[in-house]
Amino acid sequence: MTDRYAVLGHPIGHSKSPLIHSLFAQATAQDIVYTAIEPALDGFADAVRAFRDSGGRGINVTLPFKLQAFEIASAPSERARLAGAANCLRFGDGGLIEADNFDGVGLVRDLQHNLAAPLAGKRVLLLGAGGATRGALLPITAEQPQLLAVANRTADKAHALRRDFAAHAALQTSGYAELAGQSFDVVINATSSGLSQDTLPLPDGLFAPGALAYEMVYGKGLTPFLRQAQAAGVQRVADGVGMLVEQAAEAFQWWRGMRPDTAAALQRLTVPLV
Ligand code: ATR
Repeated sequence: MTDRYAVLGHPIGHSKSPLIHSLFAQATAQDIVYTAIEPALDGFADAVRAFRDSGGRGINVTLPFKLQAFEIASAPSERARLAGAANCLRFGDGGLIEADNFDGVGLVRDLQHNLAAPLAGKRVLLLGAGGATRGALLPITAEQPQLLAVANRTADKAHALRRDFAAHAALQTSGYAELAGQSFDVVINATSSGLSQDTLPLPDGLFAPGALAYEMVYGKGLTPFLRQAQAAGVQRVADGVGMLVEQAAEAFQWWRGMRPDTAAALQRLTVPLV
């Protein structure tokens, strides 16, 4: 029997998830159908229940519903709980709704596996203190970087993260100006500045020799952050296409019990950074 999955977001027309999951399904000979659904902004919970009640097996969740996806879950994973957000639900018997958040593991897998940027012993900087950063903190910490720093326009929000994660991660938190004099091996832009095309006030000398600059946004070409990095001499720049594909592979594995190879989807979706 064909199993049904979907991605829910608003807007959803741009989503690459149906393409990615159909590539995975073909490659693994899994009999699934994966569609895109755009609930009304106040209609997320109803849309989830309707999809489940009509036989759907699980969903991915994108903006702006990741917090609501966590709230609707009856059994969230620890990383979803700490992130306060879920990007993946799985429906079980008796109304069970399991939730997980694969964004951070997808990021780490992309960095280490696709981009050959190991995190162990490295100095890692996350820019931004919103949901995207929250989701990344535990998976990055698990790789044992020498330092994990979080800098945010509103420094207090970064400090609040340090308190929230105190039992799980030793974070250095600050505003951008306080980064002066420090350098990092991996700098990840987890702010939404890539969408608004704003430039971040990054101090000189932020990128260590050989550093990787990573933009979580994907498909936007060279964002202001990546241009800033290049202007500072950084040669290794990447956008979030690999994070997108790798989080999808994690979701597929959670739903189907097998991890698809991601190379074909990555190749299909990668847009040159120019
Ligand atoms: P997400 O879930 O995508 O992380 P969010 O929770 O709204 O979204 O967080 C957005 C992040 O991008 C925040 O860290 C925000 O900084 P503030 O906390 O100071 O608002 C950051 N951000 C958005 N636009 C920005 C800009 N133009 N310059 C710097 N930071 C920006």
